[in-house]
Amino acid sequence: MSAAMSDAAKPVDAVAIARAIEVLTRGGLVVVPTETVYGLAADADSASAVRAIFAAKGRPADHPVIVHIESEAALDAWARDVPTTARSLAATFWPGPLTLVLARSTRAHDALTGGQPTVGLRCPAHPWARALLAAWCAARADVAAALAAPSANAFGRISPTTAEHVHAELGERVDLILDGGACPVGIESTIVDLATGAPRLLRPGAITRAQLEATLGVAVPDAGVDAPRAPGSLERHYAPRVPLELVESRRLSARINELRGEKLAVLAEVSALLDWPVHVVLRLVPPVAPPEYARRLYALLRQLDAAGATRIVIAWPPVGGDWEAVRDRLRRASR
Ligand code: TXA
Ligand code: MG
Repeated sequence: MSAAMSDAAKPVDAVAIARAIEVLTRGGLVVVPTETVYGLAADADSASAVRAIFAAKGRPADHPVIVHIESEAALDAWARDVPTTARSLAATFWPGPLTLVLARSTRAHDALTGGQPTVGLRCPAHPWARALLAAWCAARADVAAALAAPSANAFGRISPTTAEHVHAELGERVDLILDGGACPVGIESTIVDLATGAPRLLRPGAITRAQLEATLGVAVPDAGVDAPRAPGSLERHYAPRVPLELVESRRLSARINELRGEKLAVLAEVSALLDWPVHVVLRLVPPVAPPEYARRLYALLRQLDAAGATRIVIAWPPVGGDWEAVRDRLRRASR
């Protein structure tokens, strides 16, 4: 199969969805494409099923997972004291790549929240995720039936944006992988904390800070040091195996010359380097617009990681609102 074929969006397969519901009903694990990245899903009401997610990922049990819901109708089942800010963000951006952190209801048990008093809720837009959630709600006869789903990668590794990535990393550890093609957004959802009063940005994403601020009519600053625990803030999160260095474009030629003793895999504009010395074993050219860069970012990182290089060198994309999420993921990958 060509890369282009495996990357194309695939139509929802009703038979596969029915099999997924069987797996979820018996407490199993189903990998489902969302518009952001592939998610590793289990019955959100089952603490043992949620614990199986953590075991498959090799992730510490005190980390919270995102609860995926079919519609805003499920908001008040999983959260309490839902503020009007949450309702307007949900009305504007759901279904879509936005996660709201809210005070949890009693239904949001400790295995989901990592024992924290809050729950992260997201209503995904991808046709496969929507079909799965709709079938799940129908099977449970409950509009608030939900699926717990973190990204379907091993703990500390790059989130998968194709079913092939999931096979390579988690293959035997899950019961079923739904293949919906490449994820159209490509990086994890924007996360906003609304549980502590003024809205705060916990993780930048495709829905930009400016979009959130336009909807809410207030500034949405970064969360401070007292922010709820997020795996995204851990050292090795989103990281390739090969050390990754970020360099300003204007310094790239000089830096690559300095690194003559190494084998380099480079992601940089054609114009950033005059020639490509032999110690550059792979050179990839990044997309020029933020949404396209985000969509391809994790697949590019996997390609750079697999090039047999001793170091990955990436030219920083520009500073500016629309680049915030891509710069954030690159910065985390470089640690
Ligand atoms: O786009 C996404 O959000 C993907 C897809 C599959 O939906 N999911 C995802 O899940 O990225 P995960 O578990 O890899 O990252 C979830 C993030 C973590 O940083 C986690 O700490 C944060 O959401 N989170 C979840 N519940 C939270 C809570 N109650 N308080 C603070 N952060 C929370
Ligand atoms: Mg993750």
